[in-house]
Amino acid sequence: MIGRRALWCMVGCVVLGGVMLGRHAHEAGLRRDLLRADPATIMGDPRLAAYARQRGGAVFARACASCHGPGGQGNIAGGVPDLRDGEHLYGEGRIDEIEQITRYGIRSHHSLGWNLASMPAYASPHPSADKGIHPLTPAQTADLVQFLLGMGGRATDGAAVERGKALFAGAGGCYDCHGSDAGGDSSIGAPSLSDAVWLYGGSPARIRASIEQGRAGVSPAFLHTLDPADIRAVAVFTFGLSRQDGSHDGG
Ligand code: HEC
Ligand code: HEC
Repeated sequence: MIGRRALWCMVGCVVLGGVMLGRHAHEAGLRRDLLRADPATIMGDPRLAAYARQRGGAVFARACASCHGPGGQGNIAGGVPDLRDGEHLYGEGRIDEIEQITRYGIRSHHSLGWNLASMPAYASPHPSADKGIHPLTPAQTADLVQFLLGMGGRATDGAAVERGKALFAGAGGCYDCHGSDAGGDSSIGAPSLSDAVWLYGGSPARIRASIEQGRAGVSPAFLHTLDPADIRAVAVFTFGLSRQDGSHDGG
């Protein structure tokens, strides 16, 4: 015989179960809509955008914040870019581009990840696999540092700036990746060297280290560790970080 208390308990369980199932169905519907949506339209759908940002925020804290920082501010010591500044190493910072980076990574050894160029180590006898790139002497590197400092009005030696400029556009081969105006090339992940945003730091010593030692930052591929909805959601969240304030001049 079932006691009154047990009966109430059963009723309670059924109601609670119903509520939970309802929530589950609601969540499953949002998840499905997020995956089916054209990434370009998500921000225009407040219901979907709110869901993606909330879900993506939790994913960011779990999977990205250890490198990119809890607020996406990055870290110069590790060459981790600030995701808030509207300055993009790769592409234009669209949701589908961020999603692609999250899925396949950068220099992640996944065949679909970004890996078109790395910064040669000009102090080494063989700066890169590209045989056309030759080492630079410490004096040449010092001239290049002056040239780059000069872009931001910080040079201290005008003659060195001129020598550095010639090297940049000539024997150094820098123009080939960074562009002849040093404005960078977001189709290969070569950063702009003419603005105030420095991935690895803009002090003379840090610039010199970038040129001498080379740089090849890695963002991992998450396709095997994150659910597809989490990947899309974190891309939406990351996109939102770069749109929070109005200052997108890139410095
Ligand atoms: C192990 C450290 C690490 C983790 C974890 C990591 N990243 Fe990165 N991420 C980097 C580094 C380093 C770069 C810069 C790569 C380069 O120099 O080309 C980068 C670059 C990026 C970029 C390109 C930014 C630009 O300016 O174009 C995006 C977008 C990005 N990461 C998103 C993410 C997301 C989303 C996650 C979490 C799902 C994540 N990353 C996790 C280290 C990390
Ligand atoms: C083969 C392409 C290539 C060439 C040639 C090249 N770079 Fe780079 N450089 C890169 C890439 C790619 C990065 C970013 C690496 C990363 O994201 O980890 C970079 C990064 C840098 C940085 C760090 C920028 C920052 O924001 O912190 C400096 C400084 C730099 N390059 C200067 C030069 C100079 C000077 C030359 C010529 C002597 C040169 N590069 C030649 C591809 C190149």
